[in-house]
Amino acid sequence: MKKVLVALGSNSYNVYIGQGLLRQAGSRLKEAGLSGRAVIITNPVVKGLYGDILTRALSREGFNVSALLVPDGEEQKSLETAGRLYTELTAVYAERTTPILALGGGVIGDLAGFVAATYLRGVPLVQVPTTLLAQVDSSIGGKVAVDHGKLKNMVGAFYQPRLVIADIDTLKTLPAAILTEELAEVIKYAVIRDRELFAYIEREMGRIKSLDEEALEEIVFRSAGIKAGVVEQDETDLGLRAILNYGHTVGHAIESASDFRVGHGAAVAIGMVAAARVSHRQGILGRDDLLRLKSLIERAGLPTNVPPVDMGKVIEAIRHDKKVRGGRVTFILPRSIGEVFITDEVELALVEQVLAGQE
Ligand code: NAD
Ligand code: GLY
Repeated sequence: MKKVLVALGSNSYNVYIGQGLLRQAGSRLKEAGLSGRAVIITNPVVKGLYGDILTRALSREGFNVSALLVPDGEEQKSLETAGRLYTELTAVYAERTTPILALGGGVIGDLAGFVAATYLRGVPLVQVPTTLLAQVDSSIGGKVAVDHGKLKNMVGAFYQPRLVIADIDTLKTLPAAILTEELAEVIKYAVIRDRELFAYIEREMGRIKSLDEEALEEIVFRSAGIKAGVVEQDETDLGLRAILNYGHTVGHAIESASDFRVGHGAAVAIGMVAAARVSHRQGILGRDDLLRLKSLIERAGLPTNVPPVDMGKVIEAIRHDKKVRGGRVTFILPRSIGEVFITDEVELALVEQVLAGQE
């Protein structure tokens, strides 16, 4: 088992990463000072796979456990579902000290986290992430939210969990296509901050894809460490935390221009390569690093070029990106593998050229 401390003063917490951790959940919660009643929020898919293991682990340590179910899917990240959960929490007598355990991927983590942040003005939150994206990204750093209308994560808060339990074994049941998409986020961490992690993924891609436990533990541990380090320096997303959006400006635009036919990870992969090409064209990123990045993304099973979408819509979506300030779009560009910088000095015409495949 490995451990990452997220050092945020009185809001500090540990991220536990390893095998068989769901079975230890009861003792981990007790170590964190939690006891009594506990409420698991999950969806039917994850409950079927891991609900019993987690419930038994908590009951063994004396917790009185209830499980609340929400259907699977992003559309459940809504105020309506949150409202239903508040009612169900009162029905199971959840109190100010009752921890909510978010068992699932990023959707459950964001929704249950939002409910934990707001029910009775805040109850303890325990993130139990079961997707690669949730283990390396969404369970760490305290961003919790629901969507509003078409606007993603529109209503939310910064609300740090009391602990995170990332059981690597849960990744074994993830559909291969989801694991591939979510590998994009791990490659993202390597490019923004860790050249050695990049080399590790290059070397161990075969073991990662075949779900070798040691390799999975290593990439989750190193990615979680990078996320923790960034969040420690910029908890409320006023500066440095923007680097976590490497690949996401173009990525979000492709997702929305394709009416979400292109998945998040695939779109981020294309966005990472586009940002690298822009940096290369500006004379910053070397050709070797650009080619290494493209090659790794391809070996992960992710795309590097834009699929047939309306390029006008992509550019329009970039213009409407959340990160636009004073009419200038903010981009995260790699200086080299392992280092990025934040800039608003990128001409959209250049972005259009690299997206059209002109290197
Ligand atoms: P998800 O939560 O929808 O999970 C993907 C699918 O995998 C779902 O169908 C789920 O039921 C299933 N699943 C989960 N764990 C499983 C397992 N172990 N075995 C088999 N199936 C399993 O998707 P996601 O990619 O984990 O999260 C996406 C969400 O995360 C988005 O809503 C996004 O906005 C959010 N997000 C939040 C942050 C943050 O900082 N809070 C960061 C990144 C993304
Ligand atoms: N996933 C981006 C962030 O946590 O800031």
